[in-house]
Amino acid sequence: MRTRRLVIAGAALAAAVIASPARAQGELVVYCTVQEEWCRPMMAAFERATGIRVAMTRRSSGETLTQIRAERANPRGDVWWGGTGDPHLQAAEEGLTEEYRSPNLALLHPWAVRQAEQSGFRTVGIYAGALGYSFNARELERRRIAAPRCWADLLRPEFRGEVQMADPNTSGTAYTMLATIVQLKGEEPAFEYLRALHRNINQYTRSGAAPARAVATGETLVGITFLHDAVTQKVAGAPVQIVAPCEGTGYEIGSMSIIKGARNLDNAKRFYDWALTAEAQAIGATAKAYQIPSNREAPIPPEAPRFEDVKLIDYDFARWGSAAERTRLLQRWDREVRAAAR
Ligand code: G6P
Repeated sequence: MRTRRLVIAGAALAAAVIASPARAQGELVVYCTVQEEWCRPMMAAFERATGIRVAMTRRSSGETLTQIRAERANPRGDVWWGGTGDPHLQAAEEGLTEEYRSPNLALLHPWAVRQAEQSGFRTVGIYAGALGYSFNARELERRRIAAPRCWADLLRPEFRGEVQMADPNTSGTAYTMLATIVQLKGEEPAFEYLRALHRNINQYTRSGAAPARAVATGETLVGITFLHDAVTQKVAGAPVQIVAPCEGTGYEIGSMSIIKGARNLDNAKRFYDWALTAEAQAIGATAKAYQIPSNREAPIPPEAPRFEDVKLIDYDFARWGSAAERTRLLQRWDREVRAAAR
């Protein structure tokens, strides 16, 4: 009897050894929406801390929402980490994400908790960042163009074909810009502005931060992005100047959600709790991501643009993150802006 038990125990042990140690801890599928440079060290740190193996893919905010919706009947992702808050709120409203009240909510700034409350605890704020643009100072000087300061300046004729932004259908950054202009000006004047701006746009990129990279290399004179994405380029030594527009600007509450029907639900919750800790949120700055962390104890990188220095609008996340308004604005933008001749 004794020997038999030992044999069984031995077999179980052998099975455990054959399976890789990470497998023994299980797996997690993360859809990551911040910059790839930050996604990678974040996943690696979680793997180190828990032994859970992470399969990660990076996509923009709107693209991720579309994917999660398409996989609704057979969800493949567990956690959606990062990206602007509006599509996370829309996902919550559409029932695509799971309600979860992390014990670590208590560690967060009120704006991050509000994001959770607003969604019935189906999403939560993980960072914040203000919108604006950057320009290539060296090129501007060479062409003797006066530095822009306001949203209105981007309509100047000397910027014809020299402004880049992302497509608001795929990019949360660009949707934030669209909703910001609507909130600043009212919808009709906003669409007039966007149609006029369209004449100066050289490309609508898929990903939100791409225009900041194009400014850094001089491919475009001006790029509309979050300010922190332009800081990343400046810190790397690019000749860029960063503008918080004079009329005022919007901001994002970068968010995280657990996908409804997640196959690795326990691991998803572990990731969620961990991602709200100060330790996990400090990884951003080491990857040159300069958002403001939502954990009150997480250090704010000295390079991060401060909200006190930016004229911020009172961005109505509940309204502009609602499925009806977001869908309506995007359709109107496709019809009246994207489709217009340049
Ligand atoms: C960049 C920014 C993030 C933002 C994200 C949205 O990674 O650093 O703060 O949340 O873009 O990405 P998207 O491609 O959807 O605009």
